Amino acid sequence: MRERNLIFSPSLLGSDFSAPLKALDDIASSGADYVHLDVMDGSFVPEITFGAKFIKDIRPHTDLVFDVHLMIDRPERCIQSFLDAGAGIITVHAESTPHAWRAMMMAREGGAEAGIAINPGTPVSAIEPLLDIADYVLVMTVNPGWGGQRFIPECLKKVEILNALRENSGYSYLIEVDGGLSLQNVRLAYQKGADVIASGSSFFKEDDKSLFIQRMTEEALS
Ligand code: DX5
Ligand code: ZN
Repeated sequence: MRERNLIFSPSLLGSDFSAPLKALDDIASSGADYVHLDVMDGSFVPEITFGAKFIKDIRPHTDLVFDVHLMIDRPERCIQSFLDAGAGIITVHAESTPHAWRAMMMAREGGAEAGIAINPGTPVSAIEPLLDIADYVLVMTVNPGWGGQRFIPECLKKVEILNALRENSGYSYLIEVDGGLSLQNVRLAYQKGADVIASGSSFFKEDDKSLFIQRMTEEALS
């Protein structure tokens, strides 16, 4: 297997929302490079989290890359707001819009990287035309909408397919897995081809977060 870097993107969703700056500090001092920001609109998914204003307000408080995961209907309507808020990566869901291409191009033209996300029930074939313009492909390993759910191992088949497509067809996207990631499954996710690990509850429940990142890395590469 080709050696690949592993990037950690702890999700703020797993933290105490009364203290977001503390959560950002915890992520930065753990050695993670990204912070995963789950935007939910109460329509594409039932819950509501936060929007562009919140992201803009926390932006000056950290150097972490803002990995913004938009679980919202018709994301093309508000890409500019998330660009203005300082998103480094903007990921939209294939299921959320007929205009995923346009949304991704808006993100890229605005200076961010673009990601395309797929739910557990969505096949890789649904996003094949978008792979050329994707900097990231986010494979949901739970149903979107809530933290702390059980990992769905069948979703890793799609990581394997995306990894093979990348090797055989020269795509350059990174593969992100999101939902239920822990010490129990990070090795398999990495072996199948995942490059970025988004994790909320397993990260925030640990007292020693840098030890957690270290153990996840050792487990993945073992
Ligand atoms: C789920 C979110 C995930 C979630 C991950 O809709 O997209 O990013 O926060 O949290 P855990 O690791 O708790 O599944
Ligand atoms: Zn997410």
